[in-house]
Amino acid sequence: MPSRKTSRERIPEHVAIIMDGNGRWAQNRGKPRHAGHRAGVETVREVMEVCGQQGVRILTLFAFSSENWRRPKTEVKMLMELFFTALNREVRRMKKRNVRLRIIGDISAFSNKLQKLIRDSERLTADNDGLLLQVAANYGGRWDITQAARKLAARAVAGELRPEDITEEDMAASLSFPDVPDPDLFIRTGGEMRISNFLLWQCAYTELWFCDTLWPDFGERELLEAFHDYAGRQRRFGRIAEQVEE
Ligand code: FPP
Repeated sequence: MPSRKTSRERIPEHVAIIMDGNGRWAQNRGKPRHAGHRAGVETVREVMEVCGQQGVRILTLFAFSSENWRRPKTEVKMLMELFFTALNREVRRMKKRNVRLRIIGDISAFSNKLQKLIRDSERLTADNDGLLLQVAANYGGRWDITQAARKLAARAVAGELRPEDITEEDMAASLSFPDVPDPDLFIRTGGEMRISNFLLWQCAYTELWFCDTLWPDFGERELLEAFHDYAGRQRRFGRIAEQVEE
């Protein structure tokens, strides 16, 4: 696939994406919604490759939210099957491309077969040190914050820490992937301008970028456009412009 490195521009270290618009893409073509999800997997592959080439360290994709169980049963079933076949097929490519795979979210709700495939795929790519691909599956930002609160509450009950001593760092360390820096750039395709319960805690200072393109039509050109836009932004983290420029 042709790709050019965005010359000397600051590249986001961690990119998080809500891949929206698969259903509409399919409906626009008179196809069933699952055809859109299948086409969406092709975009996942392209975005993963471009991120690797550009030097992105972490790519986090929202594949299935805690709320997606509310979709029609047939669509949920199809998404689970697609997740299984895509993972089964792509994991070898990931291994070859030095991509490390990690699934984030409550996978206990998935079938035993899918849970096993997830664990095997993570194990197979565990020694790779290129792009870290995090796929959020049965994930929700509120779920993550809640499970972190539970861990801290349990430590407080056990007398390991006092409630008044709990810090933001303790909270961050109890979230589901504490070893990864917060996303620098958040992208949502499909025209909606919402975070939809994705990385709520982690996106406190993340730069947001939205586009109308439906996920199956998204690709290298627009991804690089998002990176270019990101490179031109000044991140102040609460400070004033002059302090940042110093
Ligand atoms: C949102 O589009 C998309 C999803 C809920 C599923 C995305 C999942 C994939 C692309 C498969 C990923 C697989 C791997 C292995 C990473 P939508 O259905 O909400 O679209 P709509 O807004 O047009 O209805």
